[in-house]
Amino acid sequence: MSESLPAKPNTPEGPIRLLGIETSCDETAASVVEDGRRILSNIIASQVDIHAQYGGIYPEVASREHAIKIYPIVEQALQEAHLTLDDVDGIAVTQGPGLAGSLVVGLNTAKGIALANNLPIIAINHLEAHIYSAWLDSPERRIDDDPQFPLVALIVSGGHTELILMETHLQYQRLGGTLDDAAGEAFDKVARLIGLSYPGGPAIETTAEGGNDRAYNFPRAWLEDSWDFSFSGLKTAVLRQVRRLEESELPLPVNDIAASFQTAVVDVLVTKTLSAAREFSAKDILVAGGVSANHALRTRFIENSEFTVHIPPLILCTDNAAMISGAGYYRFIRGQRDNLNIDALPNWPLSELT
Ligand code: KG4
Ligand code: ZN
Repeated sequence: MSESLPAKPNTPEGPIRLLGIETSCDETAASVVEDGRRILSNIIASQVDIHAQYGGIYPEVASREHAIKIYPIVEQALQEAHLTLDDVDGIAVTQGPGLAGSLVVGLNTAKGIALANNLPIIAINHLEAHIYSAWLDSPERRIDDDPQFPLVALIVSGGHTELILMETHLQYQRLGGTLDDAAGEAFDKVARLIGLSYPGGPAIETTAEGGNDRAYNFPRAWLEDSWDFSFSGLKTAVLRQVRRLEESELPLPVNDIAASFQTAVVDVLVTKTLSAAREFSAKDILVAGGVSANHALRTRFIENSEFTVHIPPLILCTDNAAMISGAGYYRFIRGQRDNLNIDALPNWPLSELT
């Protein structure tokens, strides 16, 4: 059965509906979620096409796009949920980590709506929200399938690679993380090296499909005796290989490079997460963040015979606001209400959360 937190006395009766707002990176998103699990709406406006022309995220452009899109997206989220602001109990909004100028747009929107409608604000850590995407309903999972504690969570996104031990809700013990590039960042950089478009993760995944993942034996940084990761050596190895191949003046075997690179990343992520789960006697494993959309990674995790692995459906792996409302619920019932003077926290480690 699912474990739950006791509700605080000031928690309203009946279902709790939170409007979620997410603008930390390059998705402008709003949602309404009931009781941290039932998604009533989940609207995402991606800026991928705009940033693709720059080969990566252009922060000023990102905040301007958020500012243009956020109000219509919030309206759409309410409309799709068939609700008005009178029907919601609060606004969960991403406070960090992320791009400062982008976070401010979401925060200011949430503050304005909160002030005008006398609603509380619940400030949310984006990494915590990725974790709580695993509690959201989807056609493939039932309430009894909720992640069980203690669990080991692997968060793999464009900006983060974190291995976390959770003994219960809202408690995070950081076991390790990347010492250099995040897993998603490695996908994005290697994609650029071999001429693929931004974002690199999906492009590498598609390109790898036609390739031989044993064509190149790229290095795996195991970093024995630690739960940390490192992907910069792998990236450099790919760069060297590409330079060598370019000298031959034959067409670059992008499929083989993508497949061999992807397998090297997946090998390290899966092996280290499974051994952490063993070491800390975890019941379950949870994998979240943009890179968890990768099918090679999903398959390797799901095929293990020791642990139940919870990985959200694809739409909830990459940035969205349903996960913000989801995490918001657990904080709301614990009594968290934030001031209207809160500021963006561009660097906000999960381990600082209480
Ligand atoms: O969680 P997310 O949407 O945004 C951040 O919080 O960073 O993650 C975006 C990252 C990008 O680096 C993107 O290349 C990667 O997730 N990504 C993938 C896949 N889909 C997105 N990486 C590998 N395979 C994928 N299918
Ligand atoms: Zn994210």
